[in-house]
Amino acid sequence: MITLGIESSCDDTSLALVENGVRIRASLLSSQIETHRRFGGVVPEVASRKHLEAINPLIRELLAAAQLTLEEIDQIAVTTGPGLLGALLVGVAAGKAIAWALRKPFIPIHHLEAHLEAAFLAAGRPPEYPFLGLVVSGGHSNMLIARGIRDYVTLGRTADDAPGELFDKIARRIGLGYPGGPAIQKESISGNPDRYQLPRPLIRRGYGFSFSGLKTATIAVIDRAGDSLSLNDLCASLQNAVAETLISKVGAALIEYPMSRLVIAGGVAANSELRAQAARLAEARGVELLIPPPSLCTDNAAMVAAHGFFTANSWTDCNTLTVNALADWSMGDPLPFWIKPS
Ligand code: KG4
Ligand code: ZN
Repeated sequence: MITLGIESSCDDTSLALVENGVRIRASLLSSQIETHRRFGGVVPEVASRKHLEAINPLIRELLAAAQLTLEEIDQIAVTTGPGLLGALLVGVAAGKAIAWALRKPFIPIHHLEAHLEAAFLAAGRPPEYPFLGLVVSGGHSNMLIARGIRDYVTLGRTADDAPGELFDKIARRIGLGYPGGPAIQKESISGNPDRYQLPRPLIRRGYGFSFSGLKTATIAVIDRAGDSLSLNDLCASLQNAVAETLISKVGAALIEYPMSRLVIAGGVAANSELRAQAARLAEARGVELLIPPPSLCTDNAAMVAAHGFFTANSWTDCNTLTVNALADWSMGDPLPFWIKPS
């Protein structure tokens, strides 16, 4: 069973063909980083236009790379949200056109669910539930209990900035460019994480996150230090503060909701310090840790295709080739169908 995955929610046009939900036949990505770098962040309208330019040639390239024909695709899974509306629309329109032309199922995919799936795809196995999940990216930081496909309980999410957004904004401020996360990680290698005192926001206070205060505190450190600022030490201190904040809350959740599996995904899960702290926690608690390799942490279509396969397998109502541009549940609140435990 070949699933075509399409991901265009932000600044990466990505397409993949995945066999039986676990084997990547081909995965391609057209990155817009160079385009957006000069603006210091993603410009939504520019992103939509770049997706439009990239998507058709990329489909042809993908089929050639996998040595498959369009007719050999069995179903089409597309990220329908959350994300930039105009950007999403390009992927959704392309996916619906292919589904309609081939008379094959169209499976709408939630971007955060796809991120979590990447951890299982990387391990070459189907998703196993339940697990404690943490999705950390440029737009999200969500802690949740995954009970099954499309069955999630949100424990907490960010009240303001996501951790990737924090890295991107601080990197711009100190001239490291976009995207900020990888640049900050690189700078921090030779840095002292204890040099600058930064807060661990909302630590020991539930599962919600708030990173805008940490951003303000970091900017205050930058301003106070002036010319004596050590970029290496600042980046190491910031990375450590973010990782400790996230991992301490994961640790607390594992006590309140004991589970044998922990999944950490999304672009920020590529961070080496976060990965190291997660590995130490998992070992201390005796839980299995699943984190995708960095290439599957950031946005990609293989995770979308894989999740499409398992969604279609377990969910009968997925052939939603409606005239609505996006699936209804992708609109508005990032996770409208996720309920909070009573
Ligand atoms: O998942 P993703 O590709 O897109 C969203 O869904 O947002 O995540 C992108 C975010 C960016 O903010 C980027 O700075 C961050 O992930 N990121 C990292 C690393 N690689 C990417 N943050 C910290 N360390 C990294 N190595
Ligand atoms: Zn993402």
